[in-house]
Amino acid sequence: MSKRKDRRKGAELYEAVVHSAGNGDVAALSAPPEPRPLMRKFRFQLLHRWMVEHLTPCRVADVGGGKGLLAYLLRRSGWDAVVIDPVPQPLPAKYRNLVTGEQVHIPETESVPRISASFAQEMAQGFDLLVAMHAHGCIVRVIDAVAQYGCSAIVMPCCVIDEPLTPAPGVHWLQCVVDYAVARGCTVQAFRLNFKGQNIGLYVRRPTSAAAAPHKDAA
Ligand SMILES: C[S@@+](CC[C@H](N)C(=O)[O-])C[C@H]1O[C@@H](n2cnc3c(N)ncnc32)[C@H](O)[C@@H]1O
Repeated sequence: MSKRKDRRKGAELYEAVVHSAGNGDVAALSAPPEPRPLMRKFRFQLLHRWMVEHLTPCRVADVGGGKGLLAYLLRRSGWDAVVIDPVPQPLPAKYRNLVTGEQVHIPETESVPRISASFAQEMAQGFDLLVAMHAHGCIVRVIDAVAQYGCSAIVMPCCVIDEPLTPAPGVHWLQCVVDYAVARGCTVQAFRLNFKGQNIGLYVRRPTSAAAAPHKDAA
């Protein structure tokens, strides 16, 4: 697929997701990104920036958080962040600061708290917010946790791997996730980050919950 077609498809999917509920359940939280997206490897810095801009610091678990760069950045911003991932992975040695453009080295002595286990719904009880970015097999369980325990979640679904739900023919996985969350009584707000690849995020909340991560706009 050409880059232009790829961008158009992404924009169409975003519009479809934003308008899918038709009753205000799905609303755009931020404008679609400008052209010239950054590489996929900057997604942690971009999601970190989005979270800091839109939410107040809270207890957050990065489900399927891999090497833990998002949790590391959040902790530096004052969040109580941990990784839940069954595969032990060290922090990356460096990352790029998107504001200054500089490479930042992470000392070998640094680490983030990790729960080395497969994500289970009950784990959500200790957190205000769950993040599941490209987290294999965890998206539906994270939404179930929001519905059951009243935390909030940011999910960025990419592939359908080990999920208990399969999209109907012709339905995009992202749309299927939105429909599932709304059917479970959650509100969903879509946003896009400016990196190449599946860059649409869903901020999922249970409307009446006091446990959810406080939203800056709602404060
Ligand atoms: C594609 S990677 C995504 C990592 C990171 N979130 C990112 O965006 O680069 C998927 C991650 O999910 C983790 N994972 C797979 N099954 C999981 C499970 N049941 N519970 C929690 N994490 C899981 C893997 O170990 C891996 O680190």
